[in-house]
Amino acid sequence: MKTTPRGRFITFEGIDGAGKSTQIARLADALRARGLEVLRTREPGGTELGEKLRDLLLDMAMHVDTEAMLMFAARREHLAAVIEPALAAGAWVLSDRFTDATYAYQVGGHGLAAARCDALEAWVHPGFSPDLTFLFDLPSAVAAARVAATGADPDRFERERRDFFERVRAAYLERARREPGRFRVLDATRPPDGIAADVAAGLAEKAWL
Ligand code: TYD
Repeated sequence: MKTTPRGRFITFEGIDGAGKSTQIARLADALRARGLEVLRTREPGGTELGEKLRDLLLDMAMHVDTEAMLMFAARREHLAAVIEPALAAGAWVLSDRFTDATYAYQVGGHGLAAARCDALEAWVHPGFSPDLTFLFDLPSAVAAARVAATGADPDRFERERRDFFERVRAAYLERARREPGRFRVLDATRPPDGIAADVAAGLAEKAWL
């Protein structure tokens, strides 16, 4: 009997305003054009419950432990209901953020003890991590200007101060340094076509296609 090969789990990370959404859309189109099944999703969110938790997380002030637990609660649901079934069915799952974001924002940005994040990760997805993570790296001042230029009302995280985003950025870069095989760090100040080429090169290196 022929078994379906497991899909690939690719995540996109970076501070707010890094330009992930455009690149996720472009990669999804490129993969679909090659006949691959692609699922685009995001965190917090990705399920009906997760989207409700997202609304709370982006809007209400809360203790950092609560914030981390809700992020992982949404993630548990996301994995069980969406990510795991899609991967098992052979789809490529492209997620706008995953657990690296909790290390960057809650641990790096809001001062959550890393051991608490480790414990939640070990509970929610032991032994599981993305196959590839693109980190969109850019200075917080450039990112803040991009967020402001959208004219949209900033959410609770986007209203944080510049030094918060520098801590988030540093936490992401540290994770990338520790796991060079999984991460591909992109210069997100480059024009969109250049970034798309970097994403394509990151995938080509993996020789999955
Ligand atoms: P994002 O999807 O980038 O927001 P937008 O719709 O504005 O592009 O992410 C939502 C916010 O949630 C973002 O500020 C980062 C934050 N976040 C965390 O703090 N921890 C997490 O674990 C995740 C997944 C996101």
